[in-house]
Amino acid sequence: MRIIIVKDYNELSKKAANIVASQMILKPNSVLGFATGSTPTGTYKELVRIYNEGNISFREIVTFNLDEYYGLDRANVQSYYYYMNENLFSKVDIDYANVHIPDGRAIDIEAECEDYEAGIKKAGGIDLQLLGIGRNGHIGFNEPDVKFEARTHLVELDEDTIKANSRFFSSEEEVPKTAISMGIKTIMHSRRIVLLASGEEKAEIIYSMVKGKITPELPASVLQLHPDVVVILDEKAGAIISKHCNCMTQQ
Ligand code: PGA
Repeated sequence: MRIIIVKDYNELSKKAANIVASQMILKPNSVLGFATGSTPTGTYKELVRIYNEGNISFREIVTFNLDEYYGLDRANVQSYYYYMNENLFSKVDIDYANVHIPDGRAIDIEAECEDYEAGIKKAGGIDLQLLGIGRNGHIGFNEPDVKFEARTHLVELDEDTIKANSRFFSSEEEVPKTAISMGIKTIMHSRRIVLLASGEEKAEIIYSMVKGKITPELPASVLQLHPDVVVILDEKAGAIISKHCNCMTQQ
């Protein structure tokens, strides 16, 4: 795991966007795995800026998002489809035929999950997967006590996740209780993983992810076994781990 600690959220977003952009320059038809949540919004903003400067194109890019709330359709402002469209897709030259986000309204969930996995395989696998991390150590919606061997599947959201995500909804009751998420196995098959974390509330879980035991109780700990993971942290999220490892500090 390479750990890069930068000063603040702005720097984190720039670094992450530069890594994604360089992947796109080196392989214009890259398969990119995208994440939602507060953390990657700055990265998408930067990517749009780099795109507007004419340095990258999404024309041949294929995307697969990590997850989608179950029960929400694409037009719902809380859906991750809506989020991706607002933050990135509507602002760049992506071909929507190449955009993949699990269908939150799928009736046959098993078929939806199998199709999703088959789509990733057909595209040649994910070249670069962007990840955030939950305060409980989840990646995607793979909550504590996850099965490491799971692929895309329906998951029940943890209470902590429902609480954390209620800030995007008008009440906690409105937060869907289930979601379709790539599994740990799906994520682990990505060629490169870039995990982002910002703020002091992530400092402890980042320390445990890097230095703790590899355990389903802390889903992100499995990343210790992946050969190409870059973790980008701002100073607050890196406050504990920086005392215990040779992190690269960059400004
Ligand atoms: P956040 O979510 O970026 O909104 O903190 C991260 C996650 O839950 O994976």
